[in-house]
Amino acid sequence: MSQWTLRMATTSYTVAIEPGGRWAELVAWGPHGVEVGPSAYANRGDVHFITEADAAPIEYAPRGERPFTGADLEIDGDSWLTFESGAEEDGVLRLAFVDSVAQLRVVLCYRPEPAVDVLSRWVEVTNLRDESVRLAKIGSAGVCLPVREPRLSFLHGEWAREFQLDHVSLPAGGFRISSSYGVPGHNYAPWLSVDDTWGVSLAWSGSWEITAEVEPSGLTRVRAGMLGPVVVEPGETFVTPELALAYATDDLSRVWHAYDRQRSRPARKPVLYNSWEATGFEVDLPKQLELARIAADLGVELFVVDDGWFVGRHDDTGGLGDWYPESPDFGAFVEEVRATGLEFGLWVEPESVSPKSQLYAEHPDWVYQMDGREPTLIRNQMLLNLGLPEVYEFVTSTLDRLLTEHRISYLKWDMNRPATERSGELDNAHVRNYWRVLEHLRTHHPHVLVEGCAGGGGRTDLATTGMVDVVWPSDNTAPLDRLKIQHGFLHMHAPHLMSSWVTDAPGFFDARPRSLRFRFVLAMAGVLGIGADVGDWSAAEREEAAGLIARYKDIRDVVHGGEVRLLGDAVQYSAADRVVVLAWNTGSLTGVPMVPGQSSRVRLRDLTAESYVDENGQVYSAAHLTHVGVPFDWTASHDADVVVLRPA
Ligand code: DGJ
Repeated sequence: MSQWTLRMATTSYTVAIEPGGRWAELVAWGPHGVEVGPSAYANRGDVHFITEADAAPIEYAPRGERPFTGADLEIDGDSWLTFESGAEEDGVLRLAFVDSVAQLRVVLCYRPEPAVDVLSRWVEVTNLRDESVRLAKIGSAGVCLPVREPRLSFLHGEWAREFQLDHVSLPAGGFRISSSYGVPGHNYAPWLSVDDTWGVSLAWSGSWEITAEVEPSGLTRVRAGMLGPVVVEPGETFVTPELALAYATDDLSRVWHAYDRQRSRPARKPVLYNSWEATGFEVDLPKQLELARIAADLGVELFVVDDGWFVGRHDDTGGLGDWYPESPDFGAFVEEVRATGLEFGLWVEPESVSPKSQLYAEHPDWVYQMDGREPTLIRNQMLLNLGLPEVYEFVTSTLDRLLTEHRISYLKWDMNRPATERSGELDNAHVRNYWRVLEHLRTHHPHVLVEGCAGGGGRTDLATTGMVDVVWPSDNTAPLDRLKIQHGFLHMHAPHLMSSWVTDAPGFFDARPRSLRFRFVLAMAGVLGIGADVGDWSAAEREEAAGLIARYKDIRDVVHGGEVRLLGDAVQYSAADRVVVLAWNTGSLTGVPMVPGQSSRVRLRDLTAESYVDENGQVYSAAHLTHVGVPFDWTASHDADVVVLRPA
């Protein structure tokens, strides 16, 4: 039997070819050495009324081979694979299988990440026929887990309520999360964890599905991939998106954060001001400049003009596609903003087009629509088919022009509607060209930071986060809603990717007000931005804001690079020289000092020094911080805090 053990940082994954050479199966996955001993996955009983493959811990199966308990690959007709070869080269294990009747070659690819506990898996399917083959279903990977009653954790929601962390126990049957929006979507993030031990995250920026099923054999099988169909031409090879598999001996979020850090380029993360919530579509340049000047005085480092700066964009019915500034003074305005010491950033929505735009008049055939039918409008706009080479050229050259004509160092790439009216392949070409544009930006405009956004958090998959510098998790900036959104987000992604603004908005789902300090500390949990109408802030508010921005700059490296512990209404960031704790009070008050009572406590985790001292000189032992906790004396106005501890 051929068997391979792939080693990640502290874990390993062992895969073998079953004796008949029909499939690959999982033997062990866990901390180093877990493969020494009998497989926890092997079927020890007789098989009745199903095939042997249906009961096996199979790694990848076409329909035909695994007819009853679910397949990863479906073509026009059933398929059975036979093992051909296995080899490790350049850090990738490739297990090649062939179906000589269906004339397909299927290669299972595994790339263990040596520095983190992540194994990346994908599949390459080669069409050996002399005609095209349509893959109705094309999963990236399947993995069996030795649990009969899994507790699944997932992130769900809707627009303005993304990343709601939830759990479900599955005694039997199946569970499915997916998106057919053409982007990962607001409803579910392409991420799942099982028993807080095993996790998957799909690097695909289009439509997708992840399923989990308790199989009759007693294993739980998780499967993930993009949504098909996909057409493979003769002699061509289709490469699926990567599925990242994580194993955690403690927090899975720490594994995902480490992986995010590995996938991100080192980039500055300036404190930004974004004018969207303050001015909406009314982008009046003198008013914008006034906001920029106030922001600069507060200590902001980058000024971003959001939607509304281009011709015909007075509301959401026009302008998209015609990416020319409305004002002839725009170039001078950019320079004036820069003269305040701020970098300049711009909002774009390159894939969208308004029906009354010049672009649509000239290129109606660039849009997803069907002959003889009215196109579906969402937010009064249509979507360009970025999969077309001419649309890719248009988008790339438009961004090149904007970035060359103006000294822009930040782009917010938005996308405010899902794809409809698609035919043939769903979104394969669109997604690949979206990635190509992002790569182009990195290569040709490396100084430009990119913020990923799709009507809030509609496009925050692992592929996007690997190619942008920051993502906008939600349009909901209301304090208590945002706290929940960020809590969910940080289970999937690291803080250096999480854009967050301090705003004046009362809130979409929970309008309960919170202090300015609360809103600041919340936005400091990731990449701090200000979205409020700072022109309306009092002198006292501006002074408080300036102090908090300065404080954020002091802790920014720990927030972005430290090890994170999600402690409910607090987040702990640990670096070698400091432990930073951000905490928020969302519960009731004790009444202290009016009545007797004790401080609220936040218990820290995994401290490495024996004792710590805070900025007031208070010394704590690690035992105290771990078992008793950091004290907070909350009042109605003191509802959030930043604590910095240094090893004593
Ligand atoms: C949706 C984004 O999430 C918002 O931040 C803002 O950029 C608007 N689009 C602008 O139309």
